[in-house]
Amino acid sequence: MAVETIPMWIPQGIMHEGAEATVTAGSWLGKSAVLKTRRARGYRHPDLDRRLTRQRLTAEARILGRLQGLGFPVPSLMDVDQEAAWLLMSRIEGRPMYDSLRDGTSDVESLERLGSIIRSLHEAGVSHGDLTTHNVMVSEDGQLHLIDFGLARQSPELEHLGLDLQVLNECLTASHSVVGGAVDAVVRGYLEGDSAPSDVEPANQVIERFQKITGRVRYHG
Ligand SMILES: Nc1ncnc2c1ncn2[C@@H]1O[C@H](COP(=O)(O)OP(=O)(O)OP(=O)(O)O)[C@@H](O)[C@H]1O
Ligand SMILES: [Mg+2]
Repeated sequence: MAVETIPMWIPQGIMHEGAEATVTAGSWLGKSAVLKTRRARGYRHPDLDRRLTRQRLTAEARILGRLQGLGFPVPSLMDVDQEAAWLLMSRIEGRPMYDSLRDGTSDVESLERLGSIIRSLHEAGVSHGDLTTHNVMVSEDGQLHLIDFGLARQSPELEHLGLDLQVLNECLTASHSVVGGAVDAVVRGYLEGDSAPSDVEPANQVIERFQKITGRVRYHG
């Protein structure tokens, strides 16, 4: 169904216009919502392009729905149209952690909590795939939510779990170097978030892999 005719959707304004996705704020059935539309990127073959765009959107919707069912702090999925490449989800009232870390509203304590949330995500059998501070929303009461599951995977390998931490590490180094001990706080939270034995590799093994990746990046390019 074309975006213009989504029943009960009242758009209010564009929140984000990225390379692949446009996010519009609005309301759906009277609830505060956002509409995420994906556009084909244009440089691939059009058919392949459309298929990849649809696949990413479907993956995102499926993982959102699953995490929501587990009571995980993510937006709730309201509606999705694979053909037209859009999904509707609840709006997280708040700001990206990117902003709150930069103005000091969030701090190492928030990063420690983020570490624990990442561990629970991994224990739920999901890797995020793009864990930057733009994809963590901080609500007004300080609660953290993860968004943007377009590159997430179910049943990830150890490498994908380590890479989640590495992507965050790079982001913290590049954009939040004023926050002292940021990566250590994430690692601390991640290790503390380790719960009863699960099918997923233990937290210390993921940290070990992360450190290997960091070493690889630092010393071997
Ligand atoms: N459910 C939501 N509630 C509130 N804000 C949101 C929500 N979803 C997305 N946003 C806002 O829109 C921005 C972009 O959304 P998202 O991260 O899902 O897209 P993206 O895949 O990164 O897009 P692109 O790759 O094209 O930049 C987010 O950083 C956030 O500020
Ligand atoms: Mg994003």
